Amino acid sequence: MEHDEKILWVLNEGTKYFRNRAADVSRFNEAEIARARGFHSSIPGYEPTPLRSLPRLAAELGVGGIYVKDESYRFGLNAFKVLGASYAIAGYLAGMLGMDISELPYDVLAGDEIRNRLGEVTFAATTDGNHGRAVAWTARMLRQNSVVYMPKGSSESRRAAIAAEGARVSVRDVNYDESVRMTAAEANEKGWVVVQDTAWPGYEDIPLRIMQGYGSMAVEALEQLRLAGHERPTHVFAQAGVGSFAGAAQGFFRAVFGEECPKVVVVEANKADCYYRSARAGDGRPRSVTGDLDTLMAGLACGEPNTIAFGILRDNASAFVSCPDYVAARGMRILGNPLGGDPFIRSGESGAVTAGLLSFMARLDCLSDMKNALKLGKDSVVLLFSTEGDTDPARYRGVVWDGEFPTYDQMREGK
Ligand SMILES: Cc1ncc(COP(=O)(O)O)c(C=O)c1O
Repeated sequence: MEHDEKILWVLNEGTKYFRNRAADVSRFNEAEIARARGFHSSIPGYEPTPLRSLPRLAAELGVGGIYVKDESYRFGLNAFKVLGASYAIAGYLAGMLGMDISELPYDVLAGDEIRNRLGEVTFAATTDGNHGRAVAWTARMLRQNSVVYMPKGSSESRRAAIAAEGARVSVRDVNYDESVRMTAAEANEKGWVVVQDTAWPGYEDIPLRIMQGYGSMAVEALEQLRLAGHERPTHVFAQAGVGSFAGAAQGFFRAVFGEECPKVVVVEANKADCYYRSARAGDGRPRSVTGDLDTLMAGLACGEPNTIAFGILRDNASAFVSCPDYVAARGMRILGNPLGGDPFIRSGESGAVTAGLLSFMARLDCLSDMKNALKLGKDSVVLLFSTEGDTDPARYRGVVWDGEFPTYDQMREGK
């Protein structure tokens, strides 16, 4: 463990990009997200995932409320990603049929008549785990095929979970971004449909649908918050790999609330902090991180921003934060060992980093300027998304039971 790793942050408020309205968020408005939600609701087993309130943790950390959307319950897949893959695949198939997705609820799309009209389609993706499992699950549910590639260093348990959904899976000896390019090239040769959870110039239809699918999670959370007596959150912490999820959440809240939009804090793994680096550079252009992207937060190990999400976050997010691994580890322990009376949340590495960050913001001098600028205090209602459960169970136990990735001394002393 390196002991000089600090949490780094940069504020966006006040820059010329903040709220300059250049990025179009209309594709994430309530009507668009309702379409995605409509499709999701037709899938057997659909239920909103729980939104957990943690009042004791909120009191401990000096904020008004902490609400955590627990995506470990999503369709039994232990992560949120299927919201994106299922809506994108369904949308693609609707396009092949020349129909609108609203005419194709799950049972029609998976039925014999439509299956015969479509024939066999193969969907291909690169994944650190969760997205690939989501693509494989959706392909199986819709009686289609899938091919999934994983980057170097991928976890065996995550590979096995994808194979169990019937996909052809292999691990490549390259990083995530490189594998995405290789999958796109191979799919082009073989006539497969690439279902990638990130956009790049010329490839935006499917990732836009993936992002809109993630919007279901935000709309559910907003409904649940309202039932709990809050009109809206004041702060949303959204973890980012390529930024599809964070961009979707930001886009949705901005479209719904306009200038009254909650403050969105984008949280990354420091080994793959492309948004943080882009914001720090301050010229409005994306930066990439290359190399092995070796982080505990496998789901966030993506070094190149999604081109749709980038503009939305650049123009709207309030802050960008780059977190070392111990931040995620602390979040996993906090959510897994709740203060008396708060509910237990089984949150994996990429799911828990925002809770870890919030806990450090309550006690570290080096984060107090950010906390003040964001007006994070006793009246704040903070919304977090635990985007995965223990998708790598051995790793989860290593952190939560055996103390892997400890918080280092300087952090414990609050400097
Ligand atoms: C559990 C989890 N959380 C968050 C993310 C980040 O999502 P995105 O890559 O859209 O930024 C991922 C991506 O795979 C993930 O698996």
